[in-house]
Amino acid sequence: MNKFNVKILGTGSYVPEKILTNADLEKMVETSDEWITERTGIKERRIIGETQNLSDLAFEASKKAIEKSKIKVEDIDVIIIATVSGEMPLPATACILQKKLGISAVAFDISAACSGFMYGLSVAKSFIESGAYKTVLLVGGEVLTRITDWTDRNTCVLFGDGAGAMILQASETETDVLALHLGADGNYTNLLNIPAGGTAIPTTHETVDKKQHFIKMSGKEVFKIAVVKMAEAARKALELSGKKDEDVALYIPHQANLRIIEAVGKKLGVAKEKIYVNVHKYGNMSAATTIIALDEAISSGAAKKGDIITVMAFGGGLTWGAAVLKI
Ligand code: ACO
Repeated sequence: MNKFNVKILGTGSYVPEKILTNADLEKMVETSDEWITERTGIKERRIIGETQNLSDLAFEASKKAIEKSKIKVEDIDVIIIATVSGEMPLPATACILQKKLGISAVAFDISAACSGFMYGLSVAKSFIESGAYKTVLLVGGEVLTRITDWTDRNTCVLFGDGAGAMILQASETETDVLALHLGADGNYTNLLNIPAGGTAIPTTHETVDKKQHFIKMSGKEVFKIAVVKMAEAARKALELSGKKDEDVALYIPHQANLRIIEAVGKKLGVAKEKIYVNVHKYGNMSAATTIIALDEAISSGAAKKGDIITVMAFGGGLTWGAAVLKI
């Protein structure tokens, strides 16, 4: 039996001001607004400011989540950032954020690509339920545009920057994280990766010249697996939660591609109106995507207090996951 339940106290999000439109991209690579819109649903994406870093985006999103949660920043015991675009390979960006917040919390990053926020939720939930920690700040944040090859039209039209945050706290009332299902398959590491810059292929002039420090993706293959695994994860999480399809007010899928979102909805038999979409505004922000969408759904009124929401994600690893939440 769990010692404590998990309450979602509040969420926040932040995207950089600079907008890069499909028309802008037409001037950079051989592409068109028509192709990008038709194949992905993306119209524009946000680009981090020259003087900003991931911890700055995370800081802005965290401030909003803290304010909405009505907690003091010192109440935070743990900071987790889900990201694949940390400020440095060492230390964790969560430590840089901890310094900016001016607190003395436990701090570390989680790497599960676009599913990172789902993985982070699972860790936060376990920390709280076990009684190890009371209050967790969980951030999904990415600066993908600094690890994007701006000469590769296959990938550069897809990604954007942003951060979202959630405050979770131990509670004696009913839990808000009803169920989670996670998965991974390392047989597909070749489909989506950044080949160099780790310890397998350390950085050299040659790796830089060969552009091996940028995201490489076999889009078509990833697409097919994403649809199957996101739908499967949503079904499993829902089953674990004891809720039914009709109990779910809103589905928030990872926003990588509108066609993937529509295919997942079709597979789940969910009406279009019950699926939250913001991919046209931001593109794919990996681990930041689902939490930004959730925060936007709450602040816009698309998700109302007490609603049951299914969030699902899929990304490099390959990894996937889904959570059934009460907000
Ligand atoms: N503009 C114009 N043409 C393009 C562009 C572009 N930006 N990009 C690719 N093309 C061309 C290709 O070269 C290809 O041309 P060819 O047939 O002459 O070779 C043609 O368009 C079709 O390309 P496909 O790869 O078949 O296009 P597809 O319909 O599969 O769409 C896409 C590509 C958008 C990448 C899609 O496959 C996708 O969204 N995949 C999944 C992405 C995803 O979910 N990633 C997971 C998370 S990311 C993470 O974890 C960081």
